[in-house]
Amino acid sequence: MAAFGTVFMPEMAISWFDGTSWSSAEMVSSDSLQLHPGAHVLHYSSTCFEGLKAFRHADGSVNIFRMDQNLARFAQSSRLLSLPAINTSATEKMILDAVARFASDVPEPPGSMYIRPTHIGTEPAIGKAAAPTQTSCQYILLSPVGDYFSGGDTTLRLLLEEDGMRCAPHMGMIKSGGNYASALHPITKAKQELQADQVLFCPNGDVQETGAANFLLIDGDEVITKALDESFLHGVTRDSILTIARDMGMKVSERELSVTELLERAAKPGCEAALSGTAAVLTSVGTLLYKGNEYKVGNGGVGATTLKLRQALNDIQWGKAEDKHGWLTRV
Ligand SMILES: Cc1ncc(COP(=O)(O)O)c(C=O)c1O
Repeated sequence: MAAFGTVFMPEMAISWFDGTSWSSAEMVSSDSLQLHPGAHVLHYSSTCFEGLKAFRHADGSVNIFRMDQNLARFAQSSRLLSLPAINTSATEKMILDAVARFASDVPEPPGSMYIRPTHIGTEPAIGKAAAPTQTSCQYILLSPVGDYFSGGDTTLRLLLEEDGMRCAPHMGMIKSGGNYASALHPITKAKQELQADQVLFCPNGDVQETGAANFLLIDGDEVITKALDESFLHGVTRDSILTIARDMGMKVSERELSVTELLERAAKPGCEAALSGTAAVLTSVGTLLYKGNEYKVGNGGVGATTLKLRQALNDIQWGKAEDKHGWLTRV
């Protein structure tokens, strides 16, 4: 099967901001985009994006998961990057129109249609290193996907990184390309030197997130994860799993978690850890690498509570359980 995110639907929805207003959205070929080589995004990284999914239900309908949350985060990222403001209802319509156009290509579960709204600064102005772009472009790419971590039910190895950080602390809640570029070097090093799957960034011992997912510790009937602040991405999956955990009567603790506490708790039998994200869904973490040592989380295997939470989330997404929080939008 093709790697996650490498197959695209042949058309995308696109709209341009000319400094005054947004153009009407159009469907255009998704294989190229014409930009001036001096475009603001190519020099000063004025870019943000989103990732959400549409799911096919047994009745044939196609349903997008928590689109309102992704639209709100897209608008927030655009604002915090000083990009032109997006009109969320226009962007919502672009998403709905694009998914409707390719509704018959939405894979059956466990696959889905990954939706990638993108917003970039287009002004040809290389003198604007310290000034915002006046013009921009947003487009909606679609990519049919299967499972992100192709290992199925194997567990992940995470390197705990205390010295560096994923991105500048004030950038964490912005979903912007520069943040991912900033994390690549430590991630690549950890993969090559320690066969780690991901790096769990823990600046100054504070357990934060990985390069592309949030981190949850599950100890008995308690889920522990970092409380929201501006230093990391506020995952929609994180919020959904915490809501489902509360619905199941579990205790949810959003608070600081230190590396010391993490390692202490992880050593207990039955303790579980997982990564949450639109792509990762909820994937078990089996091993933590820290200062040259390897620590198993619980027994190192896939956690039963992790599986239960993931199944409950998938059941809602796949239309197999009641959508009691109104998370799905039918296309
Ligand atoms: C850095 C980072 N943290 C967390 C997440 C999880 O966010 P979400 O659950 O909204 O996909 C992502 C994206 O998947 C991410 O890139």
